[in-house]
Amino acid sequence: MKHFISLHDITVDEFNSLLSLAAKLKAEQKAGKPHRILEGKTLAMIFTKSSTRTRISFEVGMYQLGGQALFLSANDIQLGRGETIYDTAKVMSRFVDGIMIRTFAHQDVLDLAKYGSIPVINGLTDLLHPCQALADLMTVYEHKGTLKGLKLSYIGDGNNVAHSLLYACAKAGMDISVASPKGYECDPEIVANAKEDASLTGSQILMTNDPVEAITNADVVYTDTWASMGQESEKAERVKIFKDYQIDSELFSKSKPDSIFMHCLPAYRGFEMTADVIDGERSVVFDEAENRLHAQKAVLATLMG
Ligand code: CP
Ligand code: NVA
Repeated sequence: MKHFISLHDITVDEFNSLLSLAAKLKAEQKAGKPHRILEGKTLAMIFTKSSTRTRISFEVGMYQLGGQALFLSANDIQLGRGETIYDTAKVMSRFVDGIMIRTFAHQDVLDLAKYGSIPVINGLTDLLHPCQALADLMTVYEHKGTLKGLKLSYIGDGNNVAHSLLYACAKAGMDISVASPKGYECDPEIVANAKEDASLTGSQILMTNDPVEAITNADVVYTDTWASMGQESEKAERVKIFKDYQIDSELFSKSKPDSIFMHCLPAYRGFEMTADVIDGERSVVFDEAENRLHAQKAVLATLMG
């Protein structure tokens, strides 16, 4: 594994190894055992979009691994003034040991990896959010004791989070059903790639416009914001289009009685889900947030150790 850009690019074994290492690092950290695997190493973190979880978890993760992290807002580095990805990749490769980038165009992340000589980690693009999906399946495993054979239902926008969940479930042998309104479905190319991965693990993929069909019998119910970063101007229109996709207690009750509720956060109560669902006892959203730290430490240790 040279980079962590898309879960489609990694093998089932690599995916499982990351989950095991994440669990081990989490247990060690809870036991107060230091694991300074990245002593003296530096991670540059480029952000052209906002972040709470990604920024904090990568920064803290690097400190806990004995290294350090540099927060670089694209507005403050020359990339924001038109310096090319090519030159940025070449220059950063001379200073640091790895780059984490959160940005709009997925191609920029691929180019950074292509032109640089150090590992690149995707901290979210318009297309994918692999760190999130890795932490999510770690969380499902902690709560359910298994992944294979479980069913995850994603209800809402066919966005970056939905795409990475398709890849993650396919790698893990989990069934996944996605319900989105017409015109807001997942990218067909991503669905085709996920089906290719699913054929290796036996995972079943169902894409539908019907939230009830998707959620029936689910072990895990997942949603995300209806308007992602960069889509703020579409919010009012999207609220109308997505209203039947809100996870309220009635829709949630159609999943299994012991299903868990997940959301990558930030969440908007009263929109993609009601407050009683996200604040209810079957919600594991803060475990998910915490596991970003442990899952990403596994990625950092694997790529930069
Ligand atoms: N879930 C997630 O990536 O959160 P941030 O946008 O706060 O990083
Ligand atoms: N789909 C959301 C995820 C935020 C973590 C976005 O891209 O804004």
